Amino acid sequence: MWFMLLVSGAFMIILVFSFYYTISTIFRQKKLSEIKNDFISNMTHEFKTPISTISLACEVLNDKAIEKSPERTSNYVKMISDENKRLSLLVENILQTAILDKGEFKLKIQSTDIHTLIEQTIANIKIQVENKEGEITTELNAELPVINADRVHITNIIFNLIDNAIKYSNQNPVINIATRSNKHGIFISIKDNGIGISKENQHRIFDTMFRVHTGNVHNVKGFGLGLSYVKAVVEKHGGSIKVESELNKGSTFIVYLPTNPTT
Ligand SMILES: Nc1ncnc2c1ncn2[C@@H]1O[C@H](COP(=O)(O)OP(=O)(O)O)[C@@H](O)[C@H]1O
Ligand SMILES: [Mg+2]
Repeated sequence: MWFMLLVSGAFMIILVFSFYYTISTIFRQKKLSEIKNDFISNMTHEFKTPISTISLACEVLNDKAIEKSPERTSNYVKMISDENKRLSLLVENILQTAILDKGEFKLKIQSTDIHTLIEQTIANIKIQVENKEGEITTELNAELPVINADRVHITNIIFNLIDNAIKYSNQNPVINIATRSNKHGIFISIKDNGIGISKENQHRIFDTMFRVHTGNVHNVKGFGLGLSYVKAVVEKHGGSIKVESELNKGSTFIVYLPTNPTT
């Protein structure tokens, strides 16, 4: 009798577990497919604008009835080439993420001064902050700012994080970038006063294509690729990234990079 009871008990437990597993898989798939749909509609939207601009410009250039001065023609050609550049950039972005996902990318390690990179990036992005009447301040306190790292990728990740800090803010962005170092590496923190991220979403923002839902529309453009790229690059260097955030108060992203990459 005992034996029978034990066996049926074991079966019950197995059944309950497989049921739970099935249900949770279904929910996970559903979430993933929502994320994918969002991504595709976003992407279609981003591609549509330059494509329609290009086709309009071509139409005008083709139309014999419209008189064209050389100046006007070159204007249209410039429009086409600008939009074309934007399209290639988009494609480049998406392709790069695909490569990252497969883990097929190599770092070009060079001795790199993080402070110089931060200052250069700020100089490039300052105009965007000023357009939103915000400000960027720095507290570059790291005593050992020179590490071995891939300059291009590190510049990209700093750019991505500042770009997010500017984008995800409803008021005038106030951004602080601080560094400190210990004997193993450097910490870079990027702090904003933006919309913040809920605890639940903090785990997911580093996933490819994930974007926080703000109602029905995404009023800020993006593909949800930036942070997954940042994470991949940081981890490839043997570093780590974490986020501290509170809804409506702001977020701080802290990147740690070892002085010598471990991979
Ligand atoms: N500084 C930030 N403040 C608030 N939310 C952020 C911030 N950075 C990222 N997020 C959230 O994380 C998501 C993923 O960011 P990211 O991968 O850079 O993609 P994208 O910026 O293209 O949407 C964003 O859509 C946004 O919802
Ligand atoms: Mg981004």
